[in-house]
Amino acid sequence: MINLTNKVAIVTGGGKGIGESISRVLAKQGASVHILDIDKENGTRVAESINTSGKKALFHYCDLTNHDAIDDIFKNVYKQSESLDILINNAGIAHIGNVETTTPNDIDRLYNVNIKSVYSCLHFGIPLMKKSGGGSIVNMASIASVVGLADRFAYTMSKGAVYSLTFSIAKDYVNDNIRCNAVGPGRVHTPLVDNYLKDNYTGQEQEMFEKLSKTQPIGRMGKPEEIANLVAYLCSDEAAFTTGSFYPIDGGFQTLNT
Ligand SMILES: NC(=O)c1ccc[n+]([C@@H]2O[C@H](COP(=O)([O-])OP(=O)(O)OC[C@H]3O[C@@H](n4cnc5c(N)ncnc54)[C@H](O)[C@@H]3O)[C@@H](O)[C@H]2O)c1
Repeated sequence: MINLTNKVAIVTGGGKGIGESISRVLAKQGASVHILDIDKENGTRVAESINTSGKKALFHYCDLTNHDAIDDIFKNVYKQSESLDILINNAGIAHIGNVETTTPNDIDRLYNVNIKSVYSCLHFGIPLMKKSGGGSIVNMASIASVVGLADRFAYTMSKGAVYSLTFSIAKDYVNDNIRCNAVGPGRVHTPLVDNYLKDNYTGQEQEMFEKLSKTQPIGRMGKPEEIANLVAYLCSDEAAFTTGSFYPIDGGFQTLNT
C-alpha cells in the first residue's frame, strides 16, 4: 500500500539500529534515501547494500552536532534531487543517571545530539520542504517522552523536548502542507541496547537482556523494522490526515504495566 516513489528522504542516524531499518524500508517503498551519520563504516555499508538491492541511497558523513555541516549537506541534497519530501530525525544517544549523578557535560552532550541536531535539521529542512510543495517529518521520540524511567534523567528530558517540539512544528507549518509527527518506541533491540548492556552489565548481558525484554508486557523488545514500518506509513500519502500526533509503539509498556 505504501508508495514512496520519487520521494526524497533524509534519515539521520541511518547507519545502524532503527535508522538503518528506516532507511531500508523507505528505499524499498521507492524513496531516494540520504543517510546522515557520524559512523562512516556503517553508513556506507547501509547505502551500498540498498543500492545493491536495486533501490536508491547515498551516505553523507555528518556529525549532527555541527549546525553548518547540516546546512551544507541539506543544500547539496536539494541541489542534486530538487526536492526534499521526507525528514526523519532519528539519531540519538542514551545516557544513564539521575539528576545527582548527571554532570553538566552529560547535559550538554545529550542536548547537542538529541535536541539541537533536531533543531538544525528542521531549521534547514523546512525551507527546502516548502520549496518542494510540502512534506512529512517524523521525529524519533521515546516512550521516555511521556513516562518516568528510572535513572534516565538527561535522556528523558531530551526526549520530552523532541515530543513537544513536534507539536510546535506541526502547528507552524500546517498551512505549508508539511506534516510533523513523533514516534515513541519502547525498548527496541539495536546496537544502542547492546552497548548499554556491554558497558553496564559486563558478564550478565544475557540475563539483563531477558529482564529488559520482559519489561514490555508483550514479552520481548521491539524489532527495528517494526518501528520503521510505522515511520514509513507516517511518511506516505496514506497518512495525509495525520499531523501533530505522537505514536507510542512499545509492546504495551505505557498502558499495560500496572
Ligand atoms: N533502541 C531503543 O530501545 C530506543 C527506544 C526509544 C527511542 N529510541 C531512539 O531511537 C533513535 C535510534 O536509536 P537506536 O537504538 O537505533 O540507536 P543506535 O545507537 O543503534 O543508532 C543511532 C545512530 O545514530 C548515529 N549518531 C549518534 N550520534 C550522532 C551524531 N552526533 N551525528 C551523526 N550520527 C549520530 C549513530 O552513529 C548510529 O548510527 C534514538 O533517537 C533513540 O533515542 C531508541
